Amino acid sequence: MAKPGGVVGVFDRVADTYDTVDVPWFGPIAAGLVDELRVQPGERVLDIGCGRGAALRPLALATGPRGRAVGFDLSPRMVELTARDLADLPQVTVELGDASAPQQPAGTFDAVASSLVLFFLPEPGAAVRAWSALLAPRGRLGVATFGEQDERWRSVDELFTPHLPPALADARTTGTRGPFASDEGMERLLVDAGLDDVRTVRRTVEAVFRSAEHLVTFTWSHGQRAMWEHVPPDQHEEVRQAILTRAGSWADATGGFALSQVVRYSLGVRGG
Ligand SMILES: C[S@@+](CC[C@H](N)C(=O)[O-])C[C@H]1O[C@@H](n2cnc3c(N)ncnc32)[C@H](O)[C@@H]1O
Repeated sequence: MAKPGGVVGVFDRVADTYDTVDVPWFGPIAAGLVDELRVQPGERVLDIGCGRGAALRPLALATGPRGRAVGFDLSPRMVELTARDLADLPQVTVELGDASAPQQPAGTFDAVASSLVLFFLPEPGAAVRAWSALLAPRGRLGVATFGEQDERWRSVDELFTPHLPPALADARTTGTRGPFASDEGMERLLVDAGLDDVRTVRRTVEAVFRSAEHLVTFTWSHGQRAMWEHVPPDQHEEVRQAILTRAGSWADATGGFALSQVVRYSLGVRGG
């Protein structure tokens, strides 16, 4: 069994299955962010913590072959697979990098996006300041985080709770506290980073599952794998059965069900 631990290790281990288990999730969440950033042909855009390219691909398509789309991620496997997947788009570069200390030159991007990453970082305020410094004058920053979720997600997450260390760096435990607890908390991070026209847009995304087993597959395919890795292997089947029982009670006549999640888009513009 892979050792529980750092965020990068978990994302390296999920990279191959990430966003590939037929659940509309990262794509629709990123699509909302890309819509709000209103990228124009020829612009220079950056995607921080690009994962498997849920935002990077539509950003690159929006800027087109005359533009430039750079994505970076701390997980080498994410970088490797996303560079391969986006090799058909010459305007794209995918790099290894740390969102807490981006290495791109200051003042060079017309739009900076980051979808579902900020809550993994030890100092979100410092990170947003560093990201804002990458913007050209009148450049736009957009950050996607989570708002309220369907209570049923929580009831699945609770099945892992007895096994989890208190400080598990997982979006489902860190992503609802501090600045992530409210629109105002997130807006304050952007204002404190010196951005203007700070605003919030909220959208509800529905994750559709064919069956309870499909939900179990999903839990292994993204950052929630960190929770599984804290469950002793000889108790995996017990947790799996508990999820199947709980989610089985939500099924419609086809066996499927949908869980909703509010996504919060925090947006701002660099003065200039
Ligand atoms: C929930 S995924 C989101 C990926 C992608 N933005 C999407 O919307 O599908 C979080 C991503 O952040 C990356 N990540 C976590 N900490 C990071 C850091 N310090 N610097 C850069 N990337 C990081 C992970 O490797 C992972 O790919």
